[in-house]
Amino acid sequence: MPAPSTGSAAAPKAPDLGHHGDAEATPGLVDLAVNVRRAPMPDWLADPVTAALGDLAAYPDPAPARAAVAHRHGRPPEEVLLTAGAAEGFVLIARALSGVRHPVVVHPQFTEPEAALRAAGHRVDRVLLDPADGFRLDPARVPEDADLVMIGNPTNPTSVLHPAGAIATLARPGRVLVVDEAFADTTAAPGVDGEPESLAARRDLPGLVVVRSLTKTWGLAGLRIGYLLGDAALLTRFAAAQPLWAVSTPALAAATACAAPAAVAAERAIAAQLAADRDYLVARLSGLPGVRVAGRPASAFVLIHLARAADVRERLRAHGWAVRRGDTFPGLGPDWLRIAVRDRDTTDAFIETLARILEA
Ligand SMILES: Cc1ncc(COP(=O)(O)O)c(C=O)c1O
Repeated sequence: MPAPSTGSAAAPKAPDLGHHGDAEATPGLVDLAVNVRRAPMPDWLADPVTAALGDLAAYPDPAPARAAVAHRHGRPPEEVLLTAGAAEGFVLIARALSGVRHPVVVHPQFTEPEAALRAAGHRVDRVLLDPADGFRLDPARVPEDADLVMIGNPTNPTSVLHPAGAIATLARPGRVLVVDEAFADTTAAPGVDGEPESLAARRDLPGLVVVRSLTKTWGLAGLRIGYLLGDAALLTRFAAAQPLWAVSTPALAAATACAAPAAVAAERAIAAQLAADRDYLVARLSGLPGVRVAGRPASAFVLIHLARAADVRERLRAHGWAVRRGDTFPGLGPDWLRIAVRDRDTTDAFIETLARILEA
């Protein structure tokens, strides 16, 4: 597997791109390491998923789910490709675009896009956003000759939500621009009805591919369901790389249910509550000595900087709490931790433990 090129950034010491929060959320610990929302499935979702179990003898038919998702995002069905989670989308893109010459991944971000590119044999260039600048996107940092650019919005693990306009300036003919919006449904802004800064409905940007996931807000990580949105000709290429019947009938039922207007309205309400819970977590973290919250968090998790975070993480584990290490993300290091936003009681209990550890 080729090592990442040094490109426009200093050569990183290879972080483990295959590490994910679920490896840290071991049984018995309170899980602040994984960003999947844990709540009972609403009936409008559980009922069709369960009913689909009665249909398992038939091969899956993606057409109804594809139409429902297309309608949700104001696109024709040809501009939707259903996938076994966002993770499959990255693999299809990496395999189908075997001819790209200069793929660039904007970091820190979820590691699977780069892992998929490398597994498909690409030499990957990294653009590392600057913590001193709140990990904000500076589009000028992306090399002009990049013919594939991958960026997350909002970004895992920084929780930064880039302005849609800044990301849109990265689109151009001859370039595929992949925007991972796996957490777009977690974002909310006062006075904005829908998802602020989402490009999911933009059909005018050349080469734009938006990656979406239904596994986070709806707690469906084990079901595997997500989709790609973009130009029909591009999606046809990605579909050609996809195994037949990759998305199961229950997962398709979930995609249809989650695209309904009532589901989208429920998502908005969850995002608004999440924003309040996140503000609370940020306020409590900011009151701790030596803890610095990165950027302006906008998603279901918060990134913090503190000296000797790796030790603190171990101590938290000893006290029953799992948080996500930061050092496996390119552009971060051992002094970073990612913490999932939970309800206030959980946050209070966590902060109390963290405060005691820091005092000690
Ligand atoms: C930013 C981001 N994108 C995509 C994914 C993958 O999501 P899925 O479960 O839909 O494959 C994750 C999972 O953690 C993620 O954090």
